[in-house]
Amino acid sequence: MTDPPEVVGFLHDGPRSAEQAAALEWLDGTSTAAEPVRFDALADAADRFDALWWHREAPLEAPSPLSAHAPAVERHLASGGGLLLTLRAMANVDALGIETVPPDAVGAETITDPTGVLWRRLHDGHPAVESFDDLRLRVCDRGAVGTAAYESVLPARGEVLASTVRGDHDVPHRMPVVGWDADPGSVLGVGAPLSFDRPAAEAVAATRDRLVAGCLAAVADDVPEPGRPRDAEEMAAMRRALDADDRPAYHFTAPANWLNDPNGLVRWNGRFHVFYQYNPAGPFHDTIHWGHASSEDLVRWRDEPVALSPSPDGPDRNGCWSGCAIDDDGTPTLLYTGGDGRRQLPCLATAADDALRRWEKHPDNPVIEAPPPDVDVLETEHWEAEFRDHCVWREAGRWQQIIGTGLVDRGGAALRYSSEDLREWRYEGPLLVGEWASDDTVWECPELLDLGDRRLLHVSNCEDVVYFLGDIRDGRFVVDRRGILDHGDFYAPQSLADGDRHVTFGWLPEARDLDAQWDAGWSGALSLPRVLSVGPDGDLRQRPAAEVRQLRTERLLDDATFELSAGERRRLDVAGRTLELDLEVGLRDAAAAELSVFESPDRAERTVLQYGRDGELVVDRTAASDDPRVAADTQRMAVPPYDEPLSLRCFLDRSVLEVYANGRHCLTSRIYPTRDDSVGVSLAADDGRATVRDLSVWRLGDGYPRSPPDGER
Ligand code: FRU
Repeated sequence: MTDPPEVVGFLHDGPRSAEQAAALEWLDGTSTAAEPVRFDALADAADRFDALWWHREAPLEAPSPLSAHAPAVERHLASGGGLLLTLRAMANVDALGIETVPPDAVGAETITDPTGVLWRRLHDGHPAVESFDDLRLRVCDRGAVGTAAYESVLPARGEVLASTVRGDHDVPHRMPVVGWDADPGSVLGVGAPLSFDRPAAEAVAATRDRLVAGCLAAVADDVPEPGRPRDAEEMAAMRRALDADDRPAYHFTAPANWLNDPNGLVRWNGRFHVFYQYNPAGPFHDTIHWGHASSEDLVRWRDEPVALSPSPDGPDRNGCWSGCAIDDDGTPTLLYTGGDGRRQLPCLATAADDALRRWEKHPDNPVIEAPPPDVDVLETEHWEAEFRDHCVWREAGRWQQIIGTGLVDRGGAALRYSSEDLREWRYEGPLLVGEWASDDTVWECPELLDLGDRRLLHVSNCEDVVYFLGDIRDGRFVVDRRGILDHGDFYAPQSLADGDRHVTFGWLPEARDLDAQWDAGWSGALSLPRVLSVGPDGDLRQRPAAEVRQLRTERLLDDATFELSAGERRRLDVAGRTLELDLEVGLRDAAAAELSVFESPDRAERTVLQYGRDGELVVDRTAASDDPRVAADTQRMAVPPYDEPLSLRCFLDRSVLEVYANGRHCLTSRIYPTRDDSVGVSLAADDGRATVRDLSVWRLGDGYPRSPPDGER
């Protein structure tokens, strides 16, 4: 247990307010000696205190003389002292020289429900909260309180430690607790409603007191505040801290926190690079950065430091949204969407090193100021114009680009631009507009691939990933056939050009509620790498990349062939949650055949894949988990033609089930078995006989070697 500090200097900045008097009175009642100290006396007294505490609710009167005291605060921190800033005092971190980006949500908060901090799972070992075993700490239950928090920007030097809980609701995007490592001293900002002057229910007041005591002990101790990880080893430590039974072993996940779309996929100097939409502040979608990982073989990954962060004064200040990588005559270049208030602005960055770790943003960003003026682009609640995500290719001697959008009364669209130099763009008209489906209002992440005889365009329509096969004539995409790329939990895919193959990764969003994601501390995975091609019949083929076989560590079953009689259930002699199953199923006279995975011995927990005569494959999650916070539905896809044996490749990976049917159709599900013994696999036939042919099962290994191989750091 961290010891409480011996002497705390209680900072005051003028006459003591009722709130400050109440806080001081509380401190006087603890084992810590409290000594009031004026800011202007700090220069002579700073060494005397283990910690300083500035508790201020009211805004400072301008002009603030605070920066004059920054050197004294710095000296105190440099001598190993701590500093706690509570309520609105936290808004002054810039004036005190601690931070360059101050909190952007400062003001009075009216509390009607018990409100407090929602601590991050990643930081649940922090000394400030070591006396708690809950992440949700409600510290105030009534009144209007002056508070401070980060909301649409993040501190540049500090690490967010907690968001907000209000009543029964998590409010992840409100971030009132930040730690700054001021080596050797440390600073905590707690802008949550920690009021000592207002009445509060006993339990709430007790939580408040324990939290403040914990924070004072934490800033006074010698343990450095956690910072953002800087190298593969620190990222790996973060990954280990959140290792859990539901964390995929070989599907890519971020080391911690939030992940959505794959971005900027590129092979560079022989190494594969995957960037991804990433929020370093927790497992929720906000303040988006570009996370980064690299691999030699597409299946074993090395975490790299964050590649792109929002620039506080740039056109991407609120987020670096999805985009692509381009080889511009030897210079790796990114095009991505910057978020700035209600605007979405295409931006460019170029690599400053061959490991693709450092990126320089183009000084004249954005490279496109606004959507084309003569196009009726949709305005929505959050965006002045829905206009984002980029795919760039070379054609007709120029760079070509498509951007996703929605057109008023017409639907989702991909707008085409062209350029000589990737920096000046000319609008060329829509490549395709989805006018036929009224619920397709916006297309995100459009991507165009050249599959030889055919072009493939896919778009994410806020629900599904729709693909079109066809060609481009006179600048317009002419659709020959269309389909859905994956019928399950799969979104916003992007592809990597590798020789003549296209290797596609999609985002596998969670199928559990936000609270469950918060408690896990991580959210989102990527699909396996898939190779997309067109078969001789002109239809799409999707197969796992050949490299996926390298994940096989043990063959558990070898080409078994057997018949299932009507009503028979056969349990396989294999057990596990990280398996690959490869088989062929024929419905002789059965109405349906079933494959159960993640199955408990009593079958109470199970996920059932059912293939029936109607040519439909169903993933039934209604008994997949005992956890009420996860999806319990069925997902379906047609797998025509039904009169052939169905060939299946199924990848089980703890909370992922990725299914390939006939090398054409995919359905990926997120599944969260709760029981340790939900590891079984069984097969059954319904109402008649079915055959199972060439059934092989492998155990698959880890996508993250425990420590990076030598020479790979
Ligand atoms: C798709 C998407 C993109 C956007 C990004 C933001 O999932 O909404 O349109 O660029 O995610 O993270």
